[in-house]
Amino acid sequence: MAKETKNILVNSIHDKQLQVFASQYISGRLIDIGCGKKPYEELLSPLVTEHVGVDHQDSFHDKSNVDIFGSAYEIPVEDESFDSAISTAVLEHLEEPELALRECYRVLKPGGYAIYSIPFIWHIHEAPRDFFRYSKFGIEYLFNKTGFEIIEIKPLSGFWVTFGQLFVYYIYRFNRGPLRWLHIIDIIGLSIQGFVYLINKIDKTEQWTWMYMVVAKKP
Ligand SMILES: C[S@@+](CC[C@H](N)C(=O)[O-])C[C@H]1O[C@@H](n2cnc3c(N)ncnc32)[C@H](O)[C@@H]1O
Repeated sequence: MAKETKNILVNSIHDKQLQVFASQYISGRLIDIGCGKKPYEELLSPLVTEHVGVDHQDSFHDKSNVDIFGSAYEIPVEDESFDSAISTAVLEHLEEPELALRECYRVLKPGGYAIYSIPFIWHIHEAPRDFFRYSKFGIEYLFNKTGFEIIEIKPLSGFWVTFGQLFVYYIYRFNRGPLRWLHIIDIIGLSIQGFVYLINKIDKTEQWTWMYMVVAKKP
């Protein structure tokens, strides 16, 4: 139970926004760079003709849904062979983000769209392959430098979701023994997520967002 309940809020905000952007910008052949378990296959299937997941051999994630093994820096596919791209929660794990954006640009057709989700305030995860966090200015800089036109950079929360969700992750470190059997941490975690969801509607201080979702176009 612990694993599934601790991040319901951020996952649902993220996936809702992905659905909104994808319905506007994703179509045709889709490449999913750093796909992990390819969690968005079902969500995106009505929009695309093919969903090709790429990940590297060293991935910590379940690799059974990976279609092509390769590095985000050198994807073994032809130039301009995809209409759309997504890369969710991957850029922070890449030591050379500029190279990875150039590679995404290479494989997209002109006029193709890419959707990235990129954290700004989040704890270290998947150590030691956790290299960077990005402000919206850093995102603008990198995407413009690699030739993309930015369509939108959407902060996914204000202060309270970030603060509440990090607090929930923190308390889950103590989720063992009787606390775990009695689901005390689950109950506290879910209550905090519910509470911060409500106050996020009132206070949208975007400079504290945990994550941005970016839509970019290859001109
Ligand atoms: C936090 S997970 C996100 C997975 C998936 N996109 C999702 O949203 O659930 C980061 C992913 O980036 C992949 N990754 C890290 N470095 C990579 C690299 N150099 N080339 C390709 N994928 C990489 C990891 O293997 C992992 O699947």
